[in-house]
Amino acid sequence: MLIKRNCGWEIPERQATPEGLWMNRRELVRGMGLGAMALAVPGMASAQNKDADPSAGLYPARKNDKYGAPTPVTTERLATTYNNFYEFGTDKSISRDAQKLQVRPWTIKVSGLVEKPFEIAIDDLLAKMPLEERVYRHRCVETWSMIVPWSGFAMKSLVELCKPTGDAKYVVMQTLHKPAVMLGQKDFLYPWPYTEGLAMDEAMHDLTFIATGLYGKPIHKQNGAPLRLVAPWKYGFKNVKSIVSIEFSAKRPVSFWEKLQSSEYGFWANVNPQVPHARWSQATEKPLGSDQRVPTQLYNGYAEFVSSLYADRKAEKLFI
Ligand code: MTE
Repeated sequence: MLIKRNCGWEIPERQATPEGLWMNRRELVRGMGLGAMALAVPGMASAQNKDADPSAGLYPARKNDKYGAPTPVTTERLATTYNNFYEFGTDKSISRDAQKLQVRPWTIKVSGLVEKPFEIAIDDLLAKMPLEERVYRHRCVETWSMIVPWSGFAMKSLVELCKPTGDAKYVVMQTLHKPAVMLGQKDFLYPWPYTEGLAMDEAMHDLTFIATGLYGKPIHKQNGAPLRLVAPWKYGFKNVKSIVSIEFSAKRPVSFWEKLQSSEYGFWANVNPQVPHARWSQATEKPLGSDQRVPTQLYNGYAEFVSSLYADRKAEKLFI
C-alpha cells in the first residue's frame, strides 16, 4: 500500500473536535434539521440540493455507547478530506472527485450460500435496519488514525436478513465497479472491484458495523456512501466502501490488498502494535489533526470484545 506522510492532516491536536462541541452540535442539528448542516465540505449538500439524500431524515440516529465513547473526535473536515478510496485516486485528496459517484438508485445484491438470493435497494434496506450511532476508533495500516461517529446498524442485522445457510463460513463484500466514474478503476494494475471479507463469526459480532451515516447525516461519498463496513479492531483496509455485493461463501476470499501483495496484507488484519508491517512499525499512530504520535492498542483498543474470536485461531496469521 502506498504511504504518503507529508500530508494536510498534520495539523495541531487543538484542531480536533472537543467532545463538548461535538455533542452540542448533535443537539443543534437535531433541533434545526438538515439545513443547518450544509457546511463547506465536499459531500455536505443541503436539503434543497436536487441530489439531496432521501435518507437524510434518518439522522442523527440514537447514540449507542456500549463500546465506549473515545475522544477526541476527529473534525468532520479532516475525516472527510483525508481519505483512502483508490477508485478515485491513490492520494488522499479524492473528496471532490468522489462527488461524481451517484448513490441513488443503489442496489445491493445478496448471493451465494443463502436460502434465496435477492437484491435490495438501499432505502428499503435502511427502512428495515435499526439505525444507531457509534463512535469508533479507526486505525489505518499506514499508521494514521481517527475517531469518528458512524451511524448505521450492526452487521449481524444484515446477515440475519440475508439468511445464510449453515455452509456459509465467510461474507465477501465488493465495491461498485464503474470505471467511467471511478477513474482509478481504469488502472489495470489493481484487482478491481475492491473486495473484502469477514469470517461469519466476525460478521455476527455485535461490534461489526455497517455505516450508512457519519457525523449525524448520510455518509459522505468519499467515506463510502451509501454503505460501508466498519470493523474497528482491524486495519482500515478491511472496511470496504460503497458496497454493491454481499456473497456468502464456504471459501475464504482473497481480498484486494492480499491479491496485490500477500506478503504484506492478509485476511485477518487485526491491529497489533507488536507486529510490524513488512516495511514499517505499527507500534504508534498519528491521529488526524494531532502533531504527536500515540501508542497503538492491541485490537485497536477493542481486545476485551473481540480477542475471544481468535482463541482457536492461534495458528493463523492474525495480524496483518
Ligand atoms: N474501500 C474501497 N472500495 N477502496 C479503498 O481504496 N480504502 C480502505 C478502506 N476501504 C478503500 C476502501 C482503507 S486503506 C482505509 S484506511 C479506509 O477505507 C479509509 O476510510 P476513510 O477514507 O473513510 O477514512
